[in-house]
Amino acid sequence: MTGAANSTASERAVAQQKPSSLAKSLKGPRSDETLRLYDHYWPPVEHFEGFDPELIDFLANEPAKQRAILEGLRHDPEAHGRFLHRHLAAIYAHNFGYRDGAYTRHTDDDGEIAQFTAKISLERELFDHWVTPGDVPRFDDQLKAADHLDHLAETNPGVVHPLFDFIRDEASREQIERFLQCELIRNEVVDDEVALLVVGLQGMQKAVAAANLWDECGRGKLENFHTYWLRRLLEASDDGWEALDRYRVGHPWFAKLTSNLNAALLTRPAYKMMAYGCFLVFESWVEPHFVRILEGMTRVGILDDEVRIYFTAHVAIDPRHSRELSDGLREQRPLLSDDELRDVVYGAHLASDTGRRQFDHMLTYLRAMPSEGAAG
Ligand SMILES: [Fe+2]
Ligand SMILES: [Fe+2]
Repeated sequence: MTGAANSTASERAVAQQKPSSLAKSLKGPRSDETLRLYDHYWPPVEHFEGFDPELIDFLANEPAKQRAILEGLRHDPEAHGRFLHRHLAAIYAHNFGYRDGAYTRHTDDDGEIAQFTAKISLERELFDHWVTPGDVPRFDDQLKAADHLDHLAETNPGVVHPLFDFIRDEASREQIERFLQCELIRNEVVDDEVALLVVGLQGMQKAVAAANLWDECGRGKLENFHTYWLRRLLEASDDGWEALDRYRVGHPWFAKLTSNLNAALLTRPAYKMMAYGCFLVFESWVEPHFVRILEGMTRVGILDDEVRIYFTAHVAIDPRHSRELSDGLREQRPLLSDDELRDVVYGAHLASDTGRRQFDHMLTYLRAMPSEGAAG
């Protein structure tokens, strides 16, 4: 008998990894359409042109003064949330490395030190005085924690949020198109969010995150990068790229809550396990949300597959992604410590609560849009 039974560990390792995962896609002919869509800079953001004056003032302060400024805003939740999330979003652009970030094309030691100090101050305020995760249960066993996360993934108030029923049943075409712009901005660097998640994980949790990243990168096929589906959405929408550019200037602060929470967790190594739980919740509600978005698009006559592909593909993919994240937790070795388990579960609760708050804001925001042509 030949084959695996008689082979050495070396032979089995070589047999699995000698074939390239990119053999076909590196050599494949590119269609003109692919090349044209890849000519756009991604994410479709403008160059950094300086922080806004309020953040410049904040950056100039010592940490103690920064804490005092933030404390002074707590009595006004709207002003507090706006200050935290606008400025965190501006700073996080740097961490993702694109041209809208402050020091992504040149270094500036003094500027980066000041930016880092402000980041820490803002995140301390975020975690101690902005998040409202409620009662978070404790588990001493990762199987029970994973079961809890599966349950939370199906039942948390972000999954069944009325925003998505509104999109399905009531929103006008204009409201849905605006919502699609928000969704695009929310999802334009998800592959990098997953890449940051990979760092510092090990074993099966790392394999799950890396497999998710490989899916985000189209398993090597340029046309199946998830961001390529967003390029197609923009290309197929009326004036899509320019309209997004114009819209982004006024993109509201509360549309960044989940992205900012995720970036905060991803860029603080001590919060890595929270980031894992957070991402599990984000992946799990994609399917119920996107099904409703697609039904809303159908209702208002947005039937073009080019516009819908990002959503139809994720409806099929993301239930598997979230199952893999909870199975990765079940299979993780060495077993997670009590503190690590607490963090995974805490991160999942932070995600669900922050999502609920963001969707509350979004529903109010969309309802306030001129509703010409809205149903009912
Ligand atoms: Fe994706
Ligand atoms: Fe996914």
